[in-house]
Amino acid sequence: MNIDQPLQLLGGLSPALFMSRHWQKKPLVIRQAIPGLMAPIDRAELFDLAAQDDVQSRLVIQTPADADRPWRLKQGPFGRKALPALKQPGWTLLVQSVDLHDARARALRDQFRFVPDARLDDVMVSYASDGGGVGPHFDSYDVFLLQAHGQRRWRIGRQKNLDLQPGMPLKILADFTPEQEFVLQAGDMLYLPPRYAHDGVALGECMTYSIGFRAPGAGELAQEILQRFAEQARDEVGDTLYRDPKQVAQADCAKIPADLTRFAQESVEKALQDPLALQRALGEYLSEPKAQVWFDSSNAPLDPTQGVCLDRRTQMLYDAAHIFINGESFLASGRDATLMSQLADQHRLSASDIRRLSAGALELLAQWFEDGWLQMDQQDESPSP
Ligand code: SIN
Ligand code: CO
Repeated sequence: MNIDQPLQLLGGLSPALFMSRHWQKKPLVIRQAIPGLMAPIDRAELFDLAAQDDVQSRLVIQTPADADRPWRLKQGPFGRKALPALKQPGWTLLVQSVDLHDARARALRDQFRFVPDARLDDVMVSYASDGGGVGPHFDSYDVFLLQAHGQRRWRIGRQKNLDLQPGMPLKILADFTPEQEFVLQAGDMLYLPPRYAHDGVALGECMTYSIGFRAPGAGELAQEILQRFAEQARDEVGDTLYRDPKQVAQADCAKIPADLTRFAQESVEKALQDPLALQRALGEYLSEPKAQVWFDSSNAPLDPTQGVCLDRRTQMLYDAAHIFINGESFLASGRDATLMSQLADQHRLSASDIRRLSAGALELLAQWFEDGWLQMDQQDESPSP
C-alpha cells in the first residue's frame, strides 16, 4: 500500500498523515469515505449470519418505559423469530467478526491495512431499528464507524469522567457530555480514538460497520509470552539436578538455602536466554486464529503451477527472523523469507514465485494448503513454464 497517497477513504488524507494527525489522538468525520456505498451485507444476510452457531452476535433492546431495566442484552445465535419485529423501535443486532465469514467484509477490512495487521481486529456489523443504539459509552480501542445503510446521529465528547451506570448489562456512561453532533449518511465514516465517549442513534432503520482494532495489554502479553517460555523451559534448560556438596549443617531447618534460590534464578535465566524466544512467542500469540475459527482441510494437494492466496481466516505475520501463521512459527531467511513475507503482506503468491521457494518452504506451503490455510488463487493465471 502506498502510505503517501491521499485516500478518499480518509477524507483526502494519506495514510501517513491520518496516522500522524488522528490515530490514537483525535476524531475525524469523513463525508463519503466510500461514495455511493450500499451495505454489501444486507439485512437478510446479516440476520442469517446471526443465526449461525459459529458467529458471535448480541441483541440490545431499549426499554425506556421500564425504569429498572432500560437496557436488555441477549447473546446469540438468534433465529429470525428471536429478533424483534422490524417496526419495533429501539433495538440493535450486533454481529462480530463478519470479515471471517464474508469476503466482502474482509475486502473492506483490507482497505485499513495501513494499520499493522497485528492491530486489526474485526469488522462488526450492526443493524438498528429506528431509534436503536447501544447507548452512550466508550470503547477501549480505536474504531472506524462506517455508515453502510440509512442514517445515524452521532454525538461524541472528550470527557475525562468515564464512570459507568451501575447494574447495566452493557457499558452505559453515567454522565455523558456530548460536544459535537453529526448525522452520518451511507458512505460517511467516523474515526474515534480509544476512550472517546460516543452515542449513535439510528434515524430510521440503519446499518453501521465498525472496523475495530485490538491492543494487547501488558499483563496479557507477559502472561502469554511467559506461558510459551514455560512450555519450552524443560527442553531449553535440561534436567540437571540441584547439587549441594558444600551445604553445611543448618540449624534453621525450614529456611530455603540461598544456593537453591540462586540455582532457580539461573535456571529461569537460561530458559530466557534464547534471543529469539520472545519474538517467537509474541508472533505465535498475535497470529493465533480467533476462538471460533476452524479451517476446512483440502482434499486435493497443492498444484504448484497455480498461485495461492491466504484463506480469509488465516492470520499471517512476520518479523526479522520468523514467519508466523495461525499460531505457528518458522525460522526463515534469504529468498524464502522474502517470498513468505510477500505472501503475508499481499495475501497471495504467484505460481512463478512459488517456483522460487526452496524445497523445505514448498513443503510447508503444501502442508498449509492441505490444512485449508491457503486456497488456490483464482486471480493468478500465470502459465506454467
Ligand atoms: C453500533 O454499531 O451500534 C455500535 C457501534 C459503537 O458505538 O461502537
Ligand atoms: Co462504540
